[in-house]
Amino acid sequence: MCGIVGVVGSKNAKNILLNGLHKLEYRGYDSAGIMISSEEGMYVTKTAGRVAELEALVSDREDNGTGIGHTRWATHGEPTENNAHPHLSKSGRYGLVHNGVIENFEWLRETYLSDVKLNGDTDSEIIVEVVDYFSKQGLSTLAAFTKMLQEVKGSYALALIDVTDDSKIYLAKNKSPLLVGLADGYNLVGSDAMAMINETDRFVEIMDGEKIVLTANEMVILNQDNQEITRDFYVAEIDANDTEKGLYPHYMLKEIDEQPAVMRTLVQEYVTPNGESTIDSDIIEEMAKSDRIYIVGCGTSWHAGLVGQKMIEKLTNIPVEVHLASEMGYDMPILSKNPFFIFLTQSGETADSRQVLVKINELNLPTLTITNVKGSTLSREATYTLLLHAGPEIAVASTKAYTSQITVMLFLAKALGEKLGQQKAKELDVVHELGIVASAMESLVADKDHYAALSEKFLLDSRNAFYIGRGLDYAVSLEGALKLKEISYIQAEGFAAGELKHGTIALIEDGTPVVALISNEEMGSHTRGNIKEVESRGAKTLVVALEGLEKETDDIVLPHVHQLVTPLVTVIPLQLLAYYASLQRDLDVDKPRNLAKSVTVE
Ligand code: G6P
Repeated sequence: MCGIVGVVGSKNAKNILLNGLHKLEYRGYDSAGIMISSEEGMYVTKTAGRVAELEALVSDREDNGTGIGHTRWATHGEPTENNAHPHLSKSGRYGLVHNGVIENFEWLRETYLSDVKLNGDTDSEIIVEVVDYFSKQGLSTLAAFTKMLQEVKGSYALALIDVTDDSKIYLAKNKSPLLVGLADGYNLVGSDAMAMINETDRFVEIMDGEKIVLTANEMVILNQDNQEITRDFYVAEIDANDTEKGLYPHYMLKEIDEQPAVMRTLVQEYVTPNGESTIDSDIIEEMAKSDRIYIVGCGTSWHAGLVGQKMIEKLTNIPVEVHLASEMGYDMPILSKNPFFIFLTQSGETADSRQVLVKINELNLPTLTITNVKGSTLSREATYTLLLHAGPEIAVASTKAYTSQITVMLFLAKALGEKLGQQKAKELDVVHELGIVASAMESLVADKDHYAALSEKFLLDSRNAFYIGRGLDYAVSLEGALKLKEISYIQAEGFAAGELKHGTIALIEDGTPVVALISNEEMGSHTRGNIKEVESRGAKTLVVALEGLEKETDDIVLPHVHQLVTPLVTVIPLQLLAYYASLQRDLDVDKPRNLAKSVTVE
């Protein structure tokens, strides 16, 4: 989703901005632009294409140290050069980049801009003109910016430059992410730490409703009442090298391969050498009081929630519901007497999930965010946070965040189950089982040629594909299908294996690919029956079975792991199949069309 980067006071502004934009590419975008100060004034370059294309267009004029850049994911108006940011006001005085959605843009246009002919169709262009309007009424830039913010309704992260004074950048945010980066002798702003990580590891959060005046050596924070406040910086744990692909052709492949290492890191983070849980006892005590746990998430995180639900129920005996954030935000279920909420979100910024968190916070109920990004919005606003420790996930298709979400929920379920005296939880040796999982993952990711060949055989000429399984295999089927559709554009759907015959089997014809997952003996024997049903209607099946449950004709045999953690290994071949399906179709694996990594609008 849209990305912002800005810098004030650096001799190397142009490169910092272009680098930052490259780092923001993973969020998903369809056009890009940059505005930089120079001796001859500000110059703006935009393209309805990739950052690499923008880079080629940017003039090699000497820059003056200040600028803003943007990657746009179209909401209002098509992804054209005109609609790309930064937007310069008609008078040429103000340049602005915006992330979010302005809800009252029509009212703003009618009220303040009836005689301004706008260049494009974006809500963002309207707000820069509104600042210009107030400035022409005689207000200072800060006062005009403040007045515009009072008039605007919606979500936004904003960076504004007054062309007549390039020593400052004006910032504000509401519901969309924005972070200040402190460097030596110059300062930065970005939608996330990634955009600035090559320059600094010191960051200052900006809260909703605040305004910032950023100069090379100072950050002035003004609260909603225009009073100056102070806030300390924090040091991010991201290693800039983690954000590079290294020798890998794609981030997705790198991230798939990193999963065994992430499992080992998680064991170190969540279990002491004596085998004790490191999870804050307040979290466990709060959860132990609850009569029902609600897991909330979107996309892959929701799929991880479906796995977490089964693990938590089995190890704690507390009932768990899993909800899609986009549904729950507008259609709250009847809550139990003592609910506890888990927000699963890799980025910690997903607008749909945040909307639910805001509502739950209004009810004053306990919440836990499980996220990969320390200091992210959902982390800050929840009662508790647990980190995924997966390292930055850059590819839009989530892989290592999914497996680490499941693993963190396993640690949580184990600690909670033990606290509640549940025998199954006491007996489960998570460290041992995750060690086996890490080795199993290692052997699976080492077998890449096999998945490339299977993908070619089963998916190359396919327009659609089905994934089936029961129990935990059903949850993983949904994730496997999502991976495939996200990056190969093959229409893929996951189904509970037994449900296929109640409708969807009508779609099975000669050659339809059906991927079947079998990791549980009892349920697997029924799935075998469903495999026969689709094969007799012409489907070509690709069977993934756990060692011990396999048949000679099965295509992938997974090393044996504990029943409760099978999703951590079942998903690996499905991630790799999706990867090769995308590659073999010559598609952009890491940046699939229409998708964004961090979805900061509803
Ligand atoms: C986007 C991404 C998905 C991700 C979902 C939830 O749609 O493309 O890969 O699963 O957002 O993101 P979150 O950061 O909340 O886990």
